Amino acid sequence: MCGIVGYIGKAGATTVLINGLRRLEYRGYDSAGVAIIDDDRIVISKSPGKVARLNDKTHADWDPTVFQRAIAGIAHTRWATHGPPTEVNAHPHLDQSGDVALVHNGIIENYRALRARLEGLGHHFYSETDTEVLAHLIGECNKGDLFQAVCDALHQVSGTFGIAVLSANEPDRIITARRGSPIVIGVGDGETIIASDSSAIVAHTQRVIYLDDNDIAIVTADSVEIRDLNNVPVTREIAELNLDAAAAEKGGYDHFMLKEIHEQPDTLSNTIRGRLDFDLGSSVLAGMGTSPRELAELNRVVLLGCGTSLHAGLVGEYAFEDLADIHAEVQQAAEFRYRNPILGSRDLVVAISQSGETADTLAAVREANQKGAFVMSLCNVVGSTIARETGRGVYLHAGPEISVASTKAFTSQVAVLIMMALKLGRGRRYSREDGIKLGREIESIPTLVARVLRQDEHIAKIATTYANNEHAFFIGRGPMYPVALEGALKLKEISYIHAEGYHAAELKHGPIALLENGTPIIALAVDIPGKDKTLGNIEECRARGARILGIVTEGDHETAECMDDFITIPSCHPLVATIPAVVALQLFAYHVARIRGCEIDQPRNLAKSVTVE
Ligand code: G6P
Repeated sequence: MCGIVGYIGKAGATTVLINGLRRLEYRGYDSAGVAIIDDDRIVISKSPGKVARLNDKTHADWDPTVFQRAIAGIAHTRWATHGPPTEVNAHPHLDQSGDVALVHNGIIENYRALRARLEGLGHHFYSETDTEVLAHLIGECNKGDLFQAVCDALHQVSGTFGIAVLSANEPDRIITARRGSPIVIGVGDGETIIASDSSAIVAHTQRVIYLDDNDIAIVTADSVEIRDLNNVPVTREIAELNLDAAAAEKGGYDHFMLKEIHEQPDTLSNTIRGRLDFDLGSSVLAGMGTSPRELAELNRVVLLGCGTSLHAGLVGEYAFEDLADIHAEVQQAAEFRYRNPILGSRDLVVAISQSGETADTLAAVREANQKGAFVMSLCNVVGSTIARETGRGVYLHAGPEISVASTKAFTSQVAVLIMMALKLGRGRRYSREDGIKLGREIESIPTLVARVLRQDEHIAKIATTYANNEHAFFIGRGPMYPVALEGALKLKEISYIHAEGYHAAELKHGPIALLENGTPIIALAVDIPGKDKTLGNIEECRARGARILGIVTEGDHETAECMDDFITIPSCHPLVATIPAVVALQLFAYHVARIRGCEIDQPRNLAKSVTVE
């Protein structure tokens, strides 16, 4: 949520900063800004809207030599929390003197009290943001040592922050710190880049340092010195990113979302490769760090997540119960620590998060750790906070997901959850023969998905029939129920059609009252147990004038005939089928949104990584 870039090193800093913001724009995109040091003063440019607008404005407003010669600066792309997305609320914010500039992710919770105190001391504020208050506080604490000033100010704030601070009086350094909002420092050759995630760094260097909470760093062109907030030096290792800069490009597709949907045969292969053991009929997930005995003694599996990751958890719930005969439940991460989760050492808690930075999921992980549960994570972003704090788990290896609407991360999450459930199941009730059979099905997932992707044009054509509706309902049963929820989420977030997912049987307990002539029902009528009941529910909808788009199994002509339109998925195990089925719905949502002319990769009001509660 919000993107930070800082750069110090060679001439051309402004371009580096703006290009870095472009890479981070998926984190927030309602306004953007950049500050550099030129001629011993801070020069700032800010704009509402996207980074492209900031780029135009900066080129128009700044002398080209200023633009090019700067060697240090900070920049920000914003997802508004305090105050609307106007130019004045955009970051960077200045202190009272105008000599200190700050970009900030997170929330300063006590900003009102701080603001009142500073106003009492004669400070004037222009914006409605909590960040401007922190900038003024740093300025107020600054007695000629920026590092000390930032330390002193951060001691006075409560809340979360990832920050980068620039001072005209100390042009050779940037101060950066974190508590709750990630900061990564890229260590280049005569240049150092600070960012809220590594996608802004990868074009410059693969060598990075992840700050931990309450770390504060003095960053120069060729050094990084890290201390804690009490000024005690701390050591953080340099890690290798191993990220391909091209992976964060559109690669010929019109949108990142379409590229990421089409990448899924490859991303799923990367997720599954080397993780199936056909001798044992099981899976190999070394990162789980569990002994067979520990697995056998587990009482319960608790799956945590938000948004799409929560829906993956719901599929996982079916997988663990079905394959491992173990009680499994999904909990909304945002609610977890506000209830009284009953947890012990025989409860396996799996935190699911693409970014590994979602604030609610992270807080839930901390709660589960504190209660002594057996906690692990399922993350895509290597080195992310949740991955590091859990210390064990499974990486998705799905590559950078740029589109705000999650697609390839979901399918990889589900694939891993099925493999986890298989591993648990083999230690409990699942036979080797069944394990080998399921392993073969898991291995075939990339091919199953490719078969759905071949229907892209057909799905685009179907989308024209549904693109003018303002409401839609998605229904399914068993593991197809979470797929219905995820299909509805995809459609609503990128096309702005009001879409709801329901258990097929639940529709008649209320929502059916909303059906009118032509209301779309997208029915997961795949040939798995429960299909006949779903077909009955479809008829109830049809009787009330609904138009039915069915996701059906290849060769199941009888079911296909019950539909006004249909998309097929290959015949496979009911849990495995969730993956090709959701891919069909991802493509459907994409084409509907495209026809409606929506901003597919960056839907209004959303952000990729939600690092505030
Ligand atoms: C945001 C994103 C969703 C994502 C959710 C959880 O809302 O827009 O696509 O599913 O956060 O993110 P995580 O990174 O924890 O999976």
